[in-house]
Amino acid sequence: MLSLFKKKKAEQSYIAELQVDMHSHLLPAIDDGSKNMEDSIALVKKFVEMGYKKLITTPHIMQDFYKNTPEIIFDKLDKLNDIIKTLGIEIEIAAAAEYYLDEGFIEKLDRKEKLLCVSEKYVLFETSYMNASPHFDNAVFMLQSQGYKPVLAHPERYIYLYDSFDKLKKWYSKGVLFQVNTNSLVGYYSSQSKTMAEKLIDNKMINFLGSDCHGERHLKAMQEARVNAYYKKALKLDLLNNTL
Ligand SMILES: [Fe+2]
Repeated sequence: MLSLFKKKKAEQSYIAELQVDMHSHLLPAIDDGSKNMEDSIALVKKFVEMGYKKLITTPHIMQDFYKNTPEIIFDKLDKLNDIIKTLGIEIEIAAAAEYYLDEGFIEKLDRKEKLLCVSEKYVLFETSYMNASPHFDNAVFMLQSQGYKPVLAHPERYIYLYDSFDKLKKWYSKGVLFQVNTNSLVGYYSSQSKTMAEKLIDNKMINFLGSDCHGERHLKAMQEARVNAYYKKALKLDLLNNTL
């Protein structure tokens, strides 16, 4: 009887559905995501239809291409939230950033500049898709020593890691958290990234699922991804989305 009770309790602790998304590009015209305010509102409405209660959107910050600052990001966030409120759309929208691991990011860390966090302590960052960054270990060390929890965006998408799963294992064991893109589970980006996403889930090396939504195309693909067997398998792991 007791074991039956325990089993039932464990089943109940699974996340039934994600209510918080923590990786997207929904603020108008500041990166390669939403093109304008109409676009942003349409995307937000679709998240509401899918049952999301909170969106932490993460514009790119990249030294060479997207020179976003907290001022630029929060100005756009305020404008979007004003309209969302006026339209009576019920969802909470916050903002952080997706930092590209370049020299500009290292300089920010050297200066101990306050970083934009997903829910106070998680710093979402990405690297080049093609080449390993010489700054990776140093960046993780500086992030952790400054009290942040580094979250590597879409670890399944980096070509230079396709034959280096041990490297991902090493980073994970050192406290780098992993955010897998939901659409990777249906091969939206490539068959290799689908395989990697599945391997990460099989090895329980996943802390967040994210939409990485740049436009309607990503939400369309998510309709299929959200009924995928690996998506359901991921929801049974200790994902942190709904704690944000
Ligand atoms: Fe992204």
